[in-house]
Amino acid sequence: MADQTINVLERAGTVMTVSELILKKRNGYPLTCSDIEHLIAGYVKGTIPDYQMSALAMAIYFRGMNEEETAHLTRAMVNSGDTISLMDIPGIKTDKHSTGGVGDTTTLIVVPLVAAAGVPVAKLSGRGLGHTGGTLDKLESIPGFCAELTLNEFKTAVKKIGAAVTGQTIEMVPADKMLYALRDVTATVDSMPLIASSIMSKKLAAGADVIVLDVKVGDGAFIKDHSSAFELARIMVETGKKGGRQTAAVITNMDQPLGRAVGNALEVEEAVLTLRGEGPPDLEELCLTLGGWMLSLAGKASEHEEGKAILKKLLDNGSALLKFRELIQNQSGDPLVVEDLSLMPRAEKQVPVKSKAEGFVSSLKAEVIGQAAMKLGAGREKKDLRIDPVVGVTVEKKIGTMVKPGDILAHIHTSPEKEPARNTGIEDHERINDVQNMILSAYEFQNEPFEVPPLIIGCIK
Ligand code: URA
Ligand code: CA
Repeated sequence: MADQTINVLERAGTVMTVSELILKKRNGYPLTCSDIEHLIAGYVKGTIPDYQMSALAMAIYFRGMNEEETAHLTRAMVNSGDTISLMDIPGIKTDKHSTGGVGDTTTLIVVPLVAAAGVPVAKLSGRGLGHTGGTLDKLESIPGFCAELTLNEFKTAVKKIGAAVTGQTIEMVPADKMLYALRDVTATVDSMPLIASSIMSKKLAAGADVIVLDVKVGDGAFIKDHSSAFELARIMVETGKKGGRQTAAVITNMDQPLGRAVGNALEVEEAVLTLRGEGPPDLEELCLTLGGWMLSLAGKASEHEEGKAILKKLLDNGSALLKFRELIQNQSGDPLVVEDLSLMPRAEKQVPVKSKAEGFVSSLKAEVIGQAAMKLGAGREKKDLRIDPVVGVTVEKKIGTMVKPGDILAHIHTSPEKEPARNTGIEDHERINDVQNMILSAYEFQNEPFEVPPLIIGCIK
C-alpha cells in the first residue's frame, strides 16, 4: 500500500486493518486516538496477535510518536484495566516514581517525610527484578511488615495517617504487562514513547493528583546519557499533564550507588538513619529535592526550594522519623526498629574490601556494585526467586574521596548459603572472593583531586 492509499483511506474514514495501521506507523504517519485505542484493546483481548504488536512496537521504535500519540497510548493502556480513585481522601494526594537505580532507598524516606508535612502520599510499589528487591521487598525486611494491603486498607491508611506503601492487588494496566514482556524479547524496550507510556500509565492508574518523577541517568541507570534523560523526562511530564495531573521530573546522577547501602534490610537501616538526620548527604539531598517538588506541586510551598526547607525542619525535629514509625505500625511492622536498629535482621558476616591502590576515587560503577549485591542474593535474576533480605554491600568510600592502600572501600554483608532455592553450588568463600573482586573492579582512582559531578542534574516541570 502506497502512502497515497493511507491518505485516501484516512480521508474516507475507512477503518484500517491492523496491518494497515502498522504500515501507517512504519511509513512515519501519526496514529489517531481511535487507531491506538483499537490496537491496545485488540491486543489485550487477544484479537491482535503478538507478531503484529511486535511489528508495531518496532515501527514505533524507529518512527517515534508525537506528544499526542504518546498521551493517547498512555490513556488507552490505563483504560485496559482497573484504576484507583483517591477522590474520597481529603487533600491533594501525591506520588513519586524512580526510573530505577542502585541502592535507591528514597521511597522509604520521601513517603513519611512528605506525609509529615501534611501532604498525603499514596504509593504503589513493586518487587521487581534487579540488583536489590523492590521497595516492597525492602519494607518486608522489617519484622511483621505487611506490604500487601487490599485497596480498601490502602485508602484507609492514606486517610488515617497520610501515608501507605503497598503492592497492587487489583488488575492495573494489563496492557503494559503484556506489552512490556513483548518489548523485552523484541529489542523495543528503549523507545522513549514506549517507556513514557509504560511508566505514566501505571502512575495515572494509581490515582494521585501530583506525580514527581526521578529520572536516573548514568552507569547504574537504564538511560546512560543526559540528553536522553532530559528527553524522557520532558515526554513523561507532558504525558502526566495531558492526563490531568501535576507532574514534574528531577534528573539525577546514577554513576555511583545512592547513599551507602545496597541491599534490602541494609537500605531500611539507611532510611532510618536518614530520617534521623544521620544519613548519607547525597541520599538526604535527593529526598529533600523530590519531596520539595511534591510539596510545591501540592500547593504546600510556593516553589520546590521552599518545600525543601519545610522538609528539612521536619527531618531535624524528628517528625519525619515519627511518621515512618507510624507507617510501620499501621502496616503491622515492628515500630521499635526506628529507635533500635539492632531489631532489624542482619547478615552473619561482614567482610571488609580493602583498597590496593592510592588516590582519589574517580569512579565507583553503580552497575557493578549492583551486580555484586545481586550475586550475594539481594536481588532477583528471575521473577520467582526468593531474595535474602539481610545480604548486600555497603560502600564506605564514594567518588571524590581520598583513599590509601589498606583503607576499607566497602563491606560485604553475607550469610552462608542456606536457601535451597538459591542453591548455586558455589561455596560461600568462593562467592565472597568473586564479590570482593567485583567491588574492587568497580573502583577507579586518580592522583589529582577533582570536582564531584552534581547529583541533581536538572528539573523539568
Ligand atoms: N520502567 C517501566 O515501567 N517501563 C519501561 O518501559 C521502562 C522502565
Ligand atoms: Ca542506598
